[in-house]
Amino acid sequence: MQIIHAIADLQKEISRLKNDNKSIGFVPTMGALHQGHLSLVKECLAETDHCIVSIFVNPTQFNDRKDFQLYPQKFKDDGELLKETGCHILFAPSEQEMYPEPDNRMFDFGELDKVMEGKFRPGHFNGVAQIVSKLFDAVKPDKAFFGEKDFQQLAIIRELVKQLQLPVKIIGCPIVREQDGLAMSSRNMRLTIGERQIATKIAQTLFKSCTFASLKKIPEVTEWVIKEINSEPLLKVEYFEIVDGNTLQPVSDWEEAEYAVGCIAVFCGEVRLIDNITYKKPE
Ligand code: PAF
Repeated sequence: MQIIHAIADLQKEISRLKNDNKSIGFVPTMGALHQGHLSLVKECLAETDHCIVSIFVNPTQFNDRKDFQLYPQKFKDDGELLKETGCHILFAPSEQEMYPEPDNRMFDFGELDKVMEGKFRPGHFNGVAQIVSKLFDAVKPDKAFFGEKDFQQLAIIRELVKQLQLPVKIIGCPIVREQDGLAMSSRNMRLTIGERQIATKIAQTLFKSCTFASLKKIPEVTEWVIKEINSEPLLKVEYFEIVDGNTLQPVSDWEEAEYAVGCIAVFCGEVRLIDNITYKKPE
């Protein structure tokens, strides 16, 4: 596996691969890799000739400075995991490389970023769009792979690609969960042992809600999920919304959406975790 830090070096390598008619797959990450990331790398290796993974903790997508400073950094371990998994190029640029000057672009995603993460983390998706468009520009991938855990991010990236008319196919990959159901996330590393045990309640509650959702109205399911999770003193729901899986707008009736997704953000102690679940439409 090659480790490349400069965009110019990366582009030389990419021109060589394109001349050899190799397809390029790309997995952008912020490092602190876990099995969820590695599942994206495996999918990328299955679907393309050459897999490029980036590690860059993007400052412009953190609306909370403390969250940025506390973001786990594990570059050496990440490199080993990527090498074992078969990644071809690890692209690890510096902040100066990605932002030689401030990026003042403001994207307009309509209603897509006005809800959920967009509402509670102002500016977050603008920062994601800035860095992802810069990375796409550097890597020029044929396909790029994103996890469905960040359900809203995936919708925003698809919209970004549409707006900028980029020739890249976006592939969404399923959430990878720990044995007890907790969605894998780099932030899980920040949980204490006690918090980690309690955090399982988030996914368990979402799973349980699926078993009776079709028998209930959406507001009742929403209320139950929030109450159930908040009944654990260490957990505090920031939002839980059942939304149309395509538009991300809240729905109040199962019939309103082609498919409905319950999206949640919960503080477990100081650590903010997100998850989501797709509900089956009542027959
Ligand atoms: O999902 C992430 O890890 C980040 O938001 C991404 C897509 C790598 C952009 O920094």
